[in-house]
Amino acid sequence: MNNFAQPLIQLDAVTKVFFTDEVETHALAGVSLEIHKGEYVSIAGPSGCGKSTLLSILGLLDAPAAGKFLFDGQPVAHLSAAARGLIRNRQIGFIFQSFNLIGDLSVAENVELPLTYRGMKAAERKQRVQEALEKVGMAHRAHHRPSQLSGGQQQRVAVARAVAGQPAILLADEPTGNLDSRNGESVMELLRELHRGGATLCMVTHDPRFAQMADRTFHLLDGRMVKEDDAARNGRQAAVSAPHAATAGNGNNQGVTAPGA
Ligand SMILES: Nc1ncnc2c1ncn2[C@@H]1O[C@H](COP(=O)(O)OP(=O)(O)OP(=O)(O)O)[C@@H](O)[C@H]1O
Ligand SMILES: [Mg+2]
Repeated sequence: MNNFAQPLIQLDAVTKVFFTDEVETHALAGVSLEIHKGEYVSIAGPSGCGKSTLLSILGLLDAPAAGKFLFDGQPVAHLSAAARGLIRNRQIGFIFQSFNLIGDLSVAENVELPLTYRGMKAAERKQRVQEALEKVGMAHRAHHRPSQLSGGQQQRVAVARAVAGQPAILLADEPTGNLDSRNGESVMELLRELHRGGATLCMVTHDPRFAQMADRTFHLLDGRMVKEDDAARNGRQAAVSAPHAATAGNGNNQGVTAPGA
């Protein structure tokens, strides 16, 4: 990792507030972080601390209330919905806890869909799909439906869909959350392989075993970054700031990488 290069992701004092009825939830209360190309970072913390909210912002599925967000050096706050959709479709690969595959489409068609939205020619799409399915060890199931696969296999297909477009970063929200431990470990190993192959990864998890696989781990509590573990510095920890206020709950955002969606 080259810390002097321009970060791929740069967040500065980002906040997010949700208003529902009379309740005001400060899901993110001033989060700053940088992710460099080729890095593998994880975001850890208890339920309701803002992990999915943070990932939605990183993935341009949601916008901050305040603070700065630069993607590849470019401020994203004032981009049109279409421009944000283009970045999502081309630069970001999403992997969700619940796989989010489309049941009526085959494995190959699921992987192909974001490439179709992109307007890629059929021959190149086919080749990308084949390569992505081989990478995750699922080429032999290309014509199956998602319902004919195990959970671990479905998540492998979702990973293939995320990498087929060769995005700048992969964002994964609890990718092992719906898997038993054996399948969970195998999906984590797959992500590790992708990282070794050069992929930039940001993964949300509340499993400390998996968080430790990353180069760096950001610990969130009540919408604030309370600690950053840097595996490369042999576990030396940097305290960031003290936590405060927020509510508990869940609000996973779903989304596939169609531009303008
Ligand atoms: N769309 C929404 N409307 C209102 N409140 C929301 C919304 N999305 C999230 N929240 C609230 O924001 C806070 C952070 O939620 P978030 O989903 O980011 O937590 P999380 O860390 O991902 O939790 P989990 O580990 O359970 O997935 C929670 O208090 C949640 O209730
Ligand atoms: Mg979540």
